[in-house]
Amino acid sequence: MSDDLQRKIQEAIQNPKNIGEMQNADSVGTVGSPDCGDMLRMWVKFKEDSEGRKVIDRATFQTFGCETAIAVASVATELIAGKTVDEALSMSGTDLAAPLGALPPMKIHCAQLVEGALRSALAPEAKPAPAPSGLTAPQAAIPTAAGSLYESFAAPAPAEKKVKVVLKQPASPE
Ligand code: FES
Repeated sequence: MSDDLQRKIQEAIQNPKNIGEMQNADSVGTVGSPDCGDMLRMWVKFKEDSEGRKVIDRATFQTFGCETAIAVASVATELIAGKTVDEALSMSGTDLAAPLGALPPMKIHCAQLVEGALRSALAPEAKPAPAPSGLTAPQAAIPTAAGSLYESFAAPAPAEKKVKVVLKQPASPE
């Protein structure tokens, strides 16, 4: 991995944008990679733009993922703001990671994880798209009120697997 890419990833994970569950999301999608066990969930809120088009207002994410996945999700959620569903769906993992630069082959699936979660979140708005290679099929959009990522992926990771957790456990009701 180049020094420039490593620096941009470090910058992104030190100040990740749009991280966390979105309470009033219109859609949410989740995808996981069986190759590495990482998971990513993305929430999307739509709005109507000045031309009357339905566009993505904002998107947020949570992940049990590596630093690259966090960095790509951070820049991707900024990239897709203001785009229509079709425009967002036309973006590949490479497109979504473009602000970071070219990813090495072993990290391409990290961007595909973000692409898969985005496609899953946008699934009700578009024709079903196949999951990017190596990923489990995206789940159909699930209600925002669905359980947290913690609850969905509570199964313990294999002992030898190192998993980065970037979530906050939801506060329990008092
Ligand atoms: Fe699996 Fe990056 S998402 S190693």
